Amino acid sequence: MTNSTAPATRLDVHRIREAFPFTEEQVHGKPVAYLDSAATAQRPQSVLDAVSHSALRENANVHRGVHLLSQKATAAYEGARRKIQQFINAERVSEIVFLRGTTEAVNLVANSYGRTNIGAGDEIVISHMEHHSNIVPWQMLCREVGATLRVVPITDAGELDMDAYASMLNGRTKMVAMVHVSNALGTINPAKEIVELAHARGIPVLLDGAQATPHMTVDVQDLDCDFYAFSGHKMCGPTGIGALYGKQPLLEAMPPWQGGGEMILSVSFDETVYNEVPAKFEAGTPAIADAVGLGAAIDYLQSIGLDAIAAYEAELLAYGTEALSSVPGLRLIGTAASKAGVLSFVMDGIHPHDIGTIIDQEGVAIRTGHHCAQPVMERFGVPATARASFAFYNTREEIDRLVTGLHRVREVLG
Ligand code: ALA
Repeated sequence: MTNSTAPATRLDVHRIREAFPFTEEQVHGKPVAYLDSAATAQRPQSVLDAVSHSALRENANVHRGVHLLSQKATAAYEGARRKIQQFINAERVSEIVFLRGTTEAVNLVANSYGRTNIGAGDEIVISHMEHHSNIVPWQMLCREVGATLRVVPITDAGELDMDAYASMLNGRTKMVAMVHVSNALGTINPAKEIVELAHARGIPVLLDGAQATPHMTVDVQDLDCDFYAFSGHKMCGPTGIGALYGKQPLLEAMPPWQGGGEMILSVSFDETVYNEVPAKFEAGTPAIADAVGLGAAIDYLQSIGLDAIAAYEAELLAYGTEALSSVPGLRLIGTAASKAGVLSFVMDGIHPHDIGTIIDQEGVAIRTGHHCAQPVMERFGVPATARASFAFYNTREEIDRLVTGLHRVREVLG
């Protein structure tokens, strides 16, 4: 480990850290080195302020009142939707559906699009590196309608086997659902190529962007994906809020999934007329303050710049990869050529939970377990990994503390 205090890029990480109250926290009497942003990211003060302003000063229901407070709440909520549209470069604001997060977004597509368009004998293609949220909803749909789930294998480096993918697409394939960036391995998948190959056969593509939107510029029109799902809390926003992007004609043709207020134009006991998109998919009172907080998170990320974030995190990843190689008996799981800031690893003879517990005593927070991606663990023949995941507010010094902690783990546990 050398050069640990050198500024990594033009991004001023020390100034950035001042915007994040969590950096003042201590764990076991030590400053926290939070290396678990793939699980949930920390939030800057501006996001916390936006949420509390909405809750304290503009608390009213949206789309439901002529009174000024309701109009303010509606403007803030719809303003956040426009920020998302612009953030992922969707063509229309009506293509953005507010939901609880990526999981709910995939479930919406599986239940609404899937039940309408996928039937007995059809196939759904996913990959071996999916998060459970992009496996189980499709598995449930397959069971219900008699379709088959096909799984694209991954290489020893944790990359998608693109030849196998291409050969799996056929006349029975009715949906490709693929992760953009793997939470367990860090692999950045060739999303555009995935979409092109599917579209050449007229197959729609859903991308799980939960781990992509915090770390890189995402342009849904350039990707040309049909659906894109992501979560606010992975990108410095609140928990319990996220969004689904869907191409307008697809969303319009899909039936509603949940019924209730907001998603209707008129209701009688004989007939209900559904609302336009996106309201058709937003039954009930939404998470208004959290949506506003997600809008503030987008403002914050854009004030730094997604390209600057990606460049800085790439440097952290390179530094961390090199630094971990000094730890005896440590093996990285996931060594793709194109990776986001995730270092998943195992250590000979030591259970990942023991690694996590010991370095927690040093104030270093990492995740240990299967990372909601058990098939990935099975693919690499391990029950679990330890995972350090980076965000733009992390420093090389924190990575040094991780590595020091891992040497200590080796000393203590042999
Ligand atoms: N999916 C989250 C993670 O990767 C919870 O940790």
